Amino acid sequence: MQVRLILDTAHIDQIERAIQSGVIGGIATNPSKIAETGKSVETVVREIASIFDGPIALEAPSTRAEDIVREARELSRLGPNVAIKIATTFEGIKAISQLSKEGIKTNSTLVFTPAQALLAGLAGASFISPFVGRASKMGLDPMATLAKARKMYDAFGLNTKIIAASIRSVDQVIDSFIAGADMVAVRYEIFEQMFEHPLTDEGARRFLEDSQSAYRR
Ligand code: E4P
Repeated sequence: MQVRLILDTAHIDQIERAIQSGVIGGIATNPSKIAETGKSVETVVREIASIFDGPIALEAPSTRAEDIVREARELSRLGPNVAIKIATTFEGIKAISQLSKEGIKTNSTLVFTPAQALLAGLAGASFISPFVGRASKMGLDPMATLAKARKMYDAFGLNTKIIAASIRSVDQVIDSFIAGADMVAVRYEIFEQMFEHPLTDEGARRFLEDSQSAYRR
């Protein structure tokens, strides 16, 4: 299984810095994140594609299957690595079933229950996005949803990849992977926090100081 960290942002400066680490396997956006940039979706995708050649997730926000399919076809033309995020409703699943027949990559998003994960897998979604932070806030158990989705996909041979989304802490990143996510989408702030520990900074400072004398030849 190829485990990946996905950067959950549409801000090009954040993407530019994070990809330098070499550990970012994809970029996830949604309409709210694109609106924050003040740019059009076309501009955002063009900017990202100019510096990053991995997968980019874009949302088709309509609520009727016919409209979602039309939007998804248009958005998928913006780049070869684009996957279309679609809310996991009856209309969304109907659209995913159609789009997967056309070979358009889909991401069944706003998943909160194992039943939604199953429907997305049966419809042939390329990815699902269970929302961890929003679920926890409502007193749900997002790790149980992730683990059940993992079990079902493995048992039934469904090839849908699980991207844990709506992450609020570094602990949730690790717990999501352990519960069975293939990928975890992290905001830039959480990505930065993953590097941090005071003992690492202190230890590195001490080694640098000691190297002044110990490495003198
Ligand atoms: C990813 O699929 C979503 O864009 C994102 O994780 C939403 O999370 P939020 O709850 O932080 O808005």
